[in-house]
Amino acid sequence: MKPSPRPSVQKLAPYVPGRPIEEVEREYGITGAVKLASNENPLGPSPKGLAAAVAAAADVHLYPDGSGTLLRRALSARHDIPADQVVLGSGSCELIDICVRAFVDPGEEVVVPAGIFRMFPVAVGRAGGTFVEVPTGPGYRPDVHAMTRRVGPATKIVAIANPNNPTGAYSTKADLDQLFAALPGHVVVVVDEAYFEFACETPDYPDALDYVRAGRNVVVLRTFSKIYGLAGLRVGYAFASPEIAAAMNKVREPFNTTGIGQAAALAALDDAGHRERTKALVRQERPFLAAELARRGAVVNPSLGNFLLVELPIPFGPLEPEFARRGVILRPMGGWGFPLAFRVSVGTHAENLRFLQAFDELLAAGRLGLPAGAVSAAAG
Ligand SMILES: Cc1ncc(COP(=O)(O)O)c(C=O)c1O
Repeated sequence: MKPSPRPSVQKLAPYVPGRPIEEVEREYGITGAVKLASNENPLGPSPKGLAAAVAAAADVHLYPDGSGTLLRRALSARHDIPADQVVLGSGSCELIDICVRAFVDPGEEVVVPAGIFRMFPVAVGRAGGTFVEVPTGPGYRPDVHAMTRRVGPATKIVAIANPNNPTGAYSTKADLDQLFAALPGHVVVVVDEAYFEFACETPDYPDALDYVRAGRNVVVLRTFSKIYGLAGLRVGYAFASPEIAAAMNKVREPFNTTGIGQAAALAALDDAGHRERTKALVRQERPFLAAELARRGAVVNPSLGNFLLVELPIPFGPLEPEFARRGVILRPMGGWGFPLAFRVSVGTHAENLRFLQAFDELLAAGRLGLPAGAVSAAAG
């Protein structure tokens, strides 16, 4: 007799994170590798956040404020939504899990656009729920009509990542308005806005907090991991209706964010300089990277995030170690349903050039399934 995990756990495909720099450097005996695999902030942490984290370290013998009062209050004031509608999480990853655990029993459904961020199937699988992926439209844009049609009595959550990771595709304000208008009252809509700050200047990109303010059945997820550069401290936040927030608070761990994380996040909120520098870098480097890849013959999906989904004519899986041994860590997307694709985060200009150099070496060696002549065209 062997111990056997729950059947839903046995079936579960775990979330596979990007490879750490140290591991890649050790494996290939290299130094100075660049990680463009996890959509982190290329400028590092918010300096104000970092200073606050260091100061808060003096208090690590104390349990943190379990409800993150100061941070929730600051988020509430900034967004004009009552503090009892703000829930903190150990990253927005945990908040995805908390939403699913709060609403989905075994056999109940979560309806999403195909190719949604992979924490969603993991969370639904853990809960024993049924994960329903609805085919997307051109450019991987969610098809809200098809999603609405797929909703039934067993559907508890409809989730959209806006923009989505890895596709970079987004739903417009008209899309979300239609979704909210069409859904029955028993459905909770989760809008994951991890990349909100990179997307919000796009004219028809919606701010889902408007649906919270309008009293809809909605959870909006945001994070300090991306624009604020605090991924390692694990602080995400959700805005939800009071009833949904109360349910989420019941299932979350009492101390799910640390005192260091809360202090850093609070200080980072006021670091407009770092936020604007990060936005400006991505605004400049994302089109640069996309254009350079496109003229080498790769297919780049338009993205509102700080990353690009890039498709080659051949499977990317075997190429991942080739980039890694050249000191460039990318994310293969085979396990996410895109076998020909990799995801590259927008780095600093120097990091992006380093990536393009590795790309060109492999292109010239005929390894990428693309015409090698594109290298000389690119050099011109
Ligand atoms: C769409 C999306 N949602 C959520 C997350 C999770 O971020 P975190 O848990 O660091 O807040 C990510 C991270 O890459 C993401 O891409």
